[in-house]
Amino acid sequence: MCEYPKTITLSRKSGQKQDFLIRRCTEADLSDIMELQQKVYEDIGNPDLYAIVPEENIHESILEDYCFGTYVNDRLIAFTMMIANRISYRNYGTYIGYPEERQARCVSMEISLVDDEFRGYGLQKLFVTLREEEALRAGAAEALVTIAPGNDYSLANLINSGYKIIETKPLYEGAVRHILRKQL
Ligand SMILES: CC(C)(COP(=O)(O)OP(=O)(O)OC[C@H]1O[C@@H](n2cnc3c(N)ncnc32)[C@H](O)[C@@H]1OP(=O)(O)O)[C@@H](O)C(=O)NCCC(=O)NCCS
Repeated sequence: MCEYPKTITLSRKSGQKQDFLIRRCTEADLSDIMELQQKVYEDIGNPDLYAIVPEENIHESILEDYCFGTYVNDRLIAFTMMIANRISYRNYGTYIGYPEERQARCVSMEISLVDDEFRGYGLQKLFVTLREEEALRAGAAEALVTIAPGNDYSLANLINSGYKIIETKPLYEGAVRHILRKQL
């Protein structure tokens, strides 16, 4: 069983090392998460590449799903979230017509955000691995993720983690997204 919080040391290509503390988020972290999401969204500068996840959804996921914060000197510098294998309109299986019994074995990788100051340490790929570990523990058999065409860094990380594009279509108020899937 993987225990949180945990501290992990990661390196950039340049050799620069950094310690990160990763822990499950609580309701007390919600405003920091919203602030980080807003900052990253504004830095992207292209609203087609990232759709803001509303506060009420992140709040629900803190209570019902998997939300992990990553900290450097007590500052939230990265965040990731996965919707559990539960029956919900938020389960990405609903985007591709999964019946409830398949939704019950399918997790949805919803958010990964890394403050630009801390990119290049491979945090997104680490977040994929740690969410997959939780998904397997929860009895899930597959994972889905959506990515905007043009979000090349994110797409490369998910493809390198074994995800495959199964469909590309309008989601999120008409914004087009690739839907990627991996058998766990
Ligand atoms: C996608 C994201 C989480 C990846 O961050 P990360 O895990 O730190 O990225 P990686 O470690 O894989 O970075 C690999 C390389 O790409 C670069 N890179 C990563 N994201 C980048 C970005 N958005 N813009 C420019 N360069 C980026 C890194 O600096 C690194 O460069 P290097 O190889 O020269 O050192 C991050 O770019 C991000 O927060 N993007 C905005 C939110 C988003 O789109 N999330 C995904 C959908 S929820």
